[in-house]
Amino acid sequence: MDKLVIEGGIRLKGEVAVSGAKNAVLPILAATLLTDEPCLIKSAPNLRDVNTMLKILRALGKNAEMDKGKISVTSTKNKSFFADYKLVSTMRASFCVLGPLLGRFKKAKVSLPGGCVIGIRPVDLHIKGIRALGVQVNVESGYVVANAPRLKGGSVYLGGIFGSSVLATDNVMMAAVLARGKTVIESAACEPEVADLAEFLIKMGARIKGHGTPIIEIEGVAHLKGATHTIIPDRIEAGTFMLASLITRGDVLIKNVFYQHLGALIDKLEEAGAGIVKADSSLRVYPKRRLRPVNVTTLPYPGFPTDMQAQIMSLMAITAGISVITEKIYPDRFMHVAELNRMGARIQREGPHAIVEGVKYLSGAPVMASDLRASACLVLAGLIGKGRTSVSRIYHLERGYENLEEKLRGLGARIWREKE
Ligand code: EPZ
Repeated sequence: MDKLVIEGGIRLKGEVAVSGAKNAVLPILAATLLTDEPCLIKSAPNLRDVNTMLKILRALGKNAEMDKGKISVTSTKNKSFFADYKLVSTMRASFCVLGPLLGRFKKAKVSLPGGCVIGIRPVDLHIKGIRALGVQVNVESGYVVANAPRLKGGSVYLGGIFGSSVLATDNVMMAAVLARGKTVIESAACEPEVADLAEFLIKMGARIKGHGTPIIEIEGVAHLKGATHTIIPDRIEAGTFMLASLITRGDVLIKNVFYQHLGALIDKLEEAGAGIVKADSSLRVYPKRRLRPVNVTTLPYPGFPTDMQAQIMSLMAITAGISVITEKIYPDRFMHVAELNRMGARIQREGPHAIVEGVKYLSGAPVMASDLRASACLVLAGLIGKGRTSVSRIYHLERGYENLEEKLRGLGARIWREKE
């Protein structure tokens, strides 16, 4: 296994381009199961999770190859409806093959994804949603086994105790596009990645409206064709670079970004004292003055994204004053707190809250990544830690960030990879 080593103390300067969105490309790849015709996905990021999804598509009867950011998906003669545990358990997002398999073949057997360090991550809303389309669903020996003589449109409220569900919305949408009649999803997830999936489905011939809002309406059609689609930029990667600029008191131009997808983060960072210059597809980010602590609560989109919670905690850890970070989507998403405290941060966890008392500096240290966004948080802390920080288990990072160390080196960071 590899680790990343970082010499802290360099102010980042220059330009960096953001890759395509992980959380858009994964369900869009699953959606190619809805047709036998060829699909071409452009601006796809080369990530561990994308390669896992390509393996799953091949196991389900597709040819799926990636070359320089372009993924071509075509069909083979053999079809499978079975997504097995060893693949699904490595990546929760693979559970979103359930909807397209049902939409296309009216049956599916998909392993339950299981939990991960950020939470138990149930799938009750997914099951509730597909049952509303007339699907018989049983959970047997760790698998969801679903059958439908035929799918019929229906109405379903998809809000759970933590709000809407991104992948449950994706699954229900992908099952409903080939169902008979109209489907209405209430309390649908509004994330840009859900809207991007809907745009791809519409290019395939689906009839969808309201995507990106809490009410999505789908009119079933008989057949979907192949399509070509360019993935939207990854707003979480863009947000991570915004914080990298601020935490090092640098000045970075982030290209290939839709600032409209980052409203809550931009608002919070401006409140803290960041200078953020918006342009059509780029953001320039620098500290206007000494930063102030801010309080953050994560919420479903357009609220502050849970996937940016660990990263902003790194910034608050070295911002004088007290900030309270409340995690409302995954109340246990605080594995990064202990590692930041090992670097000299003063963070106290109280249930879903982390109380952060800013310190003058962090000390470089050997730390361990536990999940994707915690890894990013530790890299950010290493950029300003005094001395050397080594982040181990960086396969977590490689799941969701394409060439992160090269991109940071391009901004002047002293960061390199070593064998554990
Ligand atoms: C998506 O996960 C993202 N992953 C996550 O990003 C992101 O953190 C999450 O949405 C929230 O924005 C992908 O898109 C591949 P949810 P998803 O269903 O869809 C609860 C990253 O770092 N819930 O929106 O699995 C759930 O436990 C990853 O890129 C139920 O209770 O998340 C959570 O508390 C991490 N029942 C909340 O809802 C269900 O049936 C939101 O989860 C489903 C979810």
